[in-house]
Order: sequence, then C-alpha cells, then structure tokens
Amino acid sequence: MTDERRFSSKTVHAGTKHIEGAVNTPIFQSSTYQLTDEAYAGWAAGAQHTLLYGRLSSVNSEAVVEKICALEGAEDGDLFASGMAAISTTLMGLLSQGDHIVASSDVYGGTYGLMTEELPRFGISTTMADMQDPASYEAAIQENTKILYIETITNPVIKICDIEAMSEIAKRHNLLLVIDNTFASPWACQPIKMGADLVIHSTTKYLGGHSDIVGGAVVGSADLIAKMFIKKVHFGGCPDPHNCFLLERGMRTLAVRMPVHCSNAAEIATRLEAHPKIASVNHPSLVSHPDYDVAQRIIPKGTGMIAFTVKGGDEAALKFMRGLDMIFEATSLGGVESLIECPFNSSHMFIPEDVRIAAGLGPGLVRISVGIEDVEDLWTDISNGLNSL
Ligand SMILES: Cc1ncc(COP(=O)(O)O)c(C=O)c1O
Repeated sequence: MTDERRFSSKTVHAGTKHIEGAVNTPIFQSSTYQLTDEAYAGWAAGAQHTLLYGRLSSVNSEAVVEKICALEGAEDGDLFASGMAAISTTLMGLLSQGDHIVASSDVYGGTYGLMTEELPRFGISTTMADMQDPASYEAAIQENTKILYIETITNPVIKICDIEAMSEIAKRHNLLLVIDNTFASPWACQPIKMGADLVIHSTTKYLGGHSDIVGGAVVGSADLIAKMFIKKVHFGGCPDPHNCFLLERGMRTLAVRMPVHCSNAAEIATRLEAHPKIASVNHPSLVSHPDYDVAQRIIPKGTGMIAFTVKGGDEAALKFMRGLDMIFEATSLGGVESLIECPFNSSHMFIPEDVRIAAGLGPGLVRISVGIEDVEDLWTDISNGLNSL
C-alpha cells in the first residue's frame, strides 16, 4: 500500500502489522528482543527501527510511528511516554548551553514551565513573543536563536497561529520551526506541508481519543528524527507496548471522530455567543474570532476546543461547571467525552497570574473540549448550567 491513499484509509491501515494474519497489531508485551545477525547489523547502523530493546522501540511503537507519519506527511517519527516527554526531549535534545528559543507565553502550561524553569538551568533561554503576530517572533530572534516554537491553536485561548508566515521567517533565519499540533490533530492541520520542521503531539488527546492513555509523538525529517532517537534513548521517556496498542486503536477512528468534535464545537460556539450569560467566545468557526481569516487558511476544518468567558468572573464560571450533569469537569481534552475546566485552577494554575492575564486568560474563562455526544444533549447540559447562574 502506498501513501497515495486518502486520510481515513491511512488512519485505518497505515503501519498496522498483520502478524500471523492478525487484523490488528497484536500487543507485543516484551521488553527485549532476540539478538540475531540482523539485529546486530541494525544496532551497528544506529538501532533506529531495529527491534532490540523496549526503550528504543517495539513492534507496537513501530506500527504507531508509521501511522502518524502517514497522517502528518512526515518522513519519520518517534514516540514518547507523554506529550511533555516529547517536548522536553525535543528541546533538550536539539539545544545546547547558550542556545535560545522564541516561544509565546500562552504555550501549554507544562511547556511554559519547561522553558522558564528547567531550560534556563542548562543555559538555554527563551524569549516570549506573540504567536498571533509573526512579526513579534521575528523581532525576538537573536544571534543564538535556534528554534521558533509555536502551537497550531493556543491553549487555552484558541488563538490560531499563522504557520506559513512563521515557516517563512524560520527559513529566512535558518531556524528550526517546531510546532505542537495537539489541538488540531493531523485531520485538521498538517504543519509539515506548511513548512514546519518538527511536529509534536500529546497523543493523550485527539490521537488517542478516549482519555485512556498518556503519550507523545514527534515527527519530521529523517535526519532530525535520527538525532531525536538518540536523545530519547538517553533520556528514557518511551511508551510501553500496551500504551502504543491503545494509541493505534484510537487513531484508527480519528477521521470519524474529528468531524463530530468540530461540528459539535462550531454549533455550541454559535449558541454560546448568543447567550446572555456569556461575555465572549473563542472558536475559529466564528466570524468574530480575531484570527478568523488565518484559521480559514490554516485549519479550515476547525477544532473541538472552545474557550469562553462567563459573565461574573471565576466564581460564576466555577458555579456554572458544578451545575453541569453530563459534561465532566476534568483537565485534558480530545477524548470522545466532553471535558470542561477553568484554566486558572487546573491546566494553567502554575503560570503566574499577571502572565495569565496578559495571555488572555481573564476572569471567568472556561475551556471545553467538545466530545462526540449528541449536540442537543450537550446544549441542554450547558444551557441548564448557565441558566442556574
Ligand atoms: C497543547 C498541549 N501540548 C502538550 C501537552 C502535554 O501533554 P501530556 O499531558 O501528554 O504530557 C498538553 C497537555 O494538556 C497540551 O494541551
């Protein structure tokens, strides 16, 4: 089979290992593999994609890597124990003392902590610019800058990043463009085609799709991934075979889950915008979104993520969430079930308040990951919650 197949066929078939005639890749729960002449030869050649030892790769991780690469249009990739393991291995693996990153203060909270608390201890500095404004990224570039770091859709404010403009800047300055594509998934956006060098996923989210695993992935050119592979082996953040099995199973339905996440979210966003208890709504399907035009070019299919502000601040937002029946109050996103949170006391609680406010995380902000439930049931739950305020 070739990569000429369409997206949904790739989600089902790419990478899947039909061992012993199995329809699905069986779970190979083994930490190590027999050392044959072939294995020794693979080891001598660098060990990547040779089945030797579970920290390096496994039958199940190989299946998933092939599938993600097919979906993202990437040459090669690697898997990690979490999205943060993927991000930390990428940044610590590719950067050295004295290097510099340009990022944005509204990157995912864990990434922000890595950039502001951990990397400086190793002499790697970050300047925070505005992901909505590619010119601010260019202005922040220094002589020692090596990476421009962006997210397709920012978390939690749902700003849309102009990947094409960022890529043009990265190429002009000979920098790597690293992009966290978690909020979009490869169904909605394939950043490598827009010029990104490395694409990162928290596979915990849309790729896994069922809130039952934690994992991460990085895909990109074969050269960069070969460098990353060695770093993963040294840092050790690999996923186990059972985790990869669940991830592969989840990815096989990505193309049927994503359209429902996105259409449900677009409908809920429209209804929220008209609700008297709501001050503002951020979703790229709304013409009122400040990045509407960029979104039409970068992620025209949308996302299942919405941010909205409840009138009455954090107290009202918390009361609204506690009034919900079906929608679960929990952090994380991208699963079949809808999850809701206030970023200030969950995903972004460790970001200083002034930085949060400056990044648009004002009082009353709620983030919802819209699931694939019936949209009328979702709206009944949300409107009951709002009407109880
Ligand atoms: C955009 C984004 N990137 C990365 C991560 C980190 O992923 P993980 O929790 O799998 O380590 C998250 C987690 O919420 C996220 O939202």
